[in-house]
Amino acid sequence: MRASILALPLLATLMMTACKSEDATPVASAAKPTPTQTAVVDEHSYAEPGKVAITDLALELALDFDTKTLAGTATYALDWKDKAATVLLLDSRDLSIDKVEGDDGKGGWAPLTFKLAAVDPILGSKLSIDTPQRNAQVRVTYRTSPQASGLQWLEPSMTEGKQLPFMFSQSQQIHARSWVPLQDTPSVRYTYTAHVTSRPDVMVLMSADNDPNAIRDGDYTFKMPQKIPSYLMAIAAGDLAFKRISDRSGVWAEPTMLDKSVKEFEDTERMIATAEALYGPYRWDRYDMLVLPPSFPYGGMENPRLTFLTPTVIVGDKTLVSLIAHELAHSWSGNLVTFSSAKDAWLNEGFTSYVENRIIEVLYGKEQADMENVIERNELKKEFAEIDPSLQALATKPGVLKDPDNSSSATVYTKGAWFLQFLEQRYGRDKFDPFLREYFNHFAFQSIDTQQFADYAKKNLLAKYPNVVTPAEFNAWLYDPGIPPTAPLAQARRFGVVDSARLAWLGSQQLPPAAITDAWTTQEWVHFIESLPETLTLEQLAQLDSAYGFTGTMNGEIAQRWYPLTVRSGYTNANDAIAAFLQRIGRRKLIMPTYNALAKTEAGLALAKDVFEKAKPGYHPITTGSVQEVIDTAKPAPTPVAAPAAEPAVLAPAPAAPTAAPAK
Ligand code: BES
Ligand code: ZN
Repeated sequence: MRASILALPLLATLMMTACKSEDATPVASAAKPTPTQTAVVDEHSYAEPGKVAITDLALELALDFDTKTLAGTATYALDWKDKAATVLLLDSRDLSIDKVEGDDGKGGWAPLTFKLAAVDPILGSKLSIDTPQRNAQVRVTYRTSPQASGLQWLEPSMTEGKQLPFMFSQSQQIHARSWVPLQDTPSVRYTYTAHVTSRPDVMVLMSADNDPNAIRDGDYTFKMPQKIPSYLMAIAAGDLAFKRISDRSGVWAEPTMLDKSVKEFEDTERMIATAEALYGPYRWDRYDMLVLPPSFPYGGMENPRLTFLTPTVIVGDKTLVSLIAHELAHSWSGNLVTFSSAKDAWLNEGFTSYVENRIIEVLYGKEQADMENVIERNELKKEFAEIDPSLQALATKPGVLKDPDNSSSATVYTKGAWFLQFLEQRYGRDKFDPFLREYFNHFAFQSIDTQQFADYAKKNLLAKYPNVVTPAEFNAWLYDPGIPPTAPLAQARRFGVVDSARLAWLGSQQLPPAAITDAWTTQEWVHFIESLPETLTLEQLAQLDSAYGFTGTMNGEIAQRWYPLTVRSGYTNANDAIAAFLQRIGRRKLIMPTYNALAKTEAGLALAKDVFEKAKPGYHPITTGSVQEVIDTAKPAPTPVAAPAAEPAVLAPAPAAPTAAPAK
C-alpha cells in the first residue's frame, strides 16, 4: 500500500521565492553543475564532491518559534581531493547567508567572499564560496526562511496537546538545503554534531544520539558519529515525551499519544531482531520512533536512530505496522548502503520494500506478506497503464527525473521489490539471503549507483551460480519499462474470499455474512474497495456505508480509496466527511487521490478549493505544493448526475486478486 507517494506534482511554486543575501552579488543564471572527477554526478545538486567533499558538519543553531527560523552557523571539515580547486559549491534554498569564513590555520577565522546564484525553481540557489587557500574548515553564518520547504512550524492549536508549538524537518529528497547549506547529494557522507538552543519547555530531537532521559532545558547537544548523507539530516521540537519498548527502542510522542503508540509499535524489537538475523547487526545503536502531528506529509521517514512517523498508522490493530518494518529496513537498505543519486531511488526503496515484506512474513505470516504484495502489485499495474515508459525502468536515465520528489513509487518501490523477489525465487533463499547480507556488508556506509549493484550481482550471483538467471533477464528488470515476463506471481488466499464476496454482492445485492467480514483486516477491506467498479450507484454506496461505515472511517488506507469512489459516483453524502478528512490529515498519499478525483468535476473542484483554503494553514509546504498544483491544472468536466438506482453503473468484474506479469 505504498503506491503514489511520490508521483505527485512539482513544488515549483513553493520554491520560487528567491532569497537575497545582502553582501552577495547574485550571478546571472543557475547553470547546471559542470562534470567533475567523481564517477557519479548528481544532477540535483550543484556540489562538486569530486573536487572537495564535506567530511564533518558542526551546527550551532538557535531554534525560534516566534520568527519560525533556525539561525546560526554550519562549520564544515573539508577533504580537498582536487589540489587545484579554488571554490566550494554548496546547495541552498531560501537561506539568508550573513557571512562565510575560512579557518586561518592558526585557530582563527578569516572572511571569504561568496555568491548566491539566482533561484532555480527545483534546485534552489547555488552558493559559491571562494576558497583559494583550500581551507580545512569553512563556516557559514545563516538563517532559514519561515517558508523553508524542508521545515514545518505548527501553532499549538495544530498539535494534539494544544499547549506548545511544534516543528519538524523533512529533508528527503532535496530539502535539507532549505535548512542547512550543504552538499545536498546522497553521494556525499559526513558525520555531524549539533548544539541547538530553544525555548526551555520544548524537547528538541535530531537524527542522532537522542537521550531517552534528556531533560527539557532549552539547550541540547547531538552527535551522529556514523557518516550519513544529507537527506537523513533531521530535527524536531515540541511537547515530546519518551516511553521505552525495549532496551534499544522506544517512542517519542506528544504525551497523549504515547501509550497508544507504544502499544501499536510493541513489536519493534522483534522486527529489529528479525532483520538482524537476516542481514547482520543493526549498526546505529538505538532505534527510536517519533510520532508527528497528522500534517506530516509522508507515512514515515527513516531518519537514522529516529524514524519520523505519521500518526495515521495508529489504527489500534497493528495492521499498518509494515510502515515500521519499512523504515527500520532502511537501516540496512538506504542508510547503510545508500543510492548515490535520486536516479537510483529503487536501490533504497525497492530493497527496503523487499526487506519490509520479509520482516512482515516472519512476524505476521506469509498470508499477511502476500496480501500486502498483491495490493502493491495491483497498484503498480494501474500506475503503469498511465505513466510514461521512461519512468518505468528501475535505472532512470539522466535528465528524465526533473524533480526528484516526483519519481514513480510504483517503479521504485514495487517493481524494485519485485525484482529482488524474482532473484530470491530463482536462486532460493539459501543463496539469496547470504548474498544480500554480504551486499550490505560490502557497501556499508557507502553510496552506490545501479551499475555498481549490477556489477556486484553479476559477479556474486549470476557468475557464481551459472544458468539460473541470464544477463538479458537481469538487465530487462533494470533497463526496460513495464513488468518483465519473468515476474513471479503473487497470490493471497484470503483475497479469494474477498473477490467472491464482492462478485456475489455486485450480482445479487447480498452482502457477505458478518461472520466472514468481521474477520477482515485493513488489507481485505482495501482489496474489496479497490476491486469495485469505477463507479457505483447511490444505493450501492449507501448499502455499503450502512453496513460498514466507510464514510467517516479513521483508517486512512480505507479512506484514501473509499472517498475517490464516492466522488466519482456523485455520492455527495460523503462530502462532509471528505472535508473533515482532508482538513485533519496532511499525508500526501492519503489525501491526493481524493483531491485528484474532486478536481475532475466542477462541483468537486469547488469543494476541493473550499476545503484547501481551510486546510492550507495546517498543511506542510510539500503537501500545499502538491494540492495547489492539482487545483491549478484541473480541467473539470460538468458535474455528472449520479447513476439512477435501476441502472447500476459498470458491472464489469474487477481485476482478480492474483497478479500475473502481462505479456510484453
Ligand atoms: N524514504 C521514504 C520517504 C520519502 C521518499 C520521502 C522519497 C521523500 C522522497 C520512506 O521510507 C517511505 O518510503 N515512506 C513511505 C512508507 C511506506 C512505503 C511504508 C510513505 O511515506 O508512504
Ligand atoms: Zn522508504
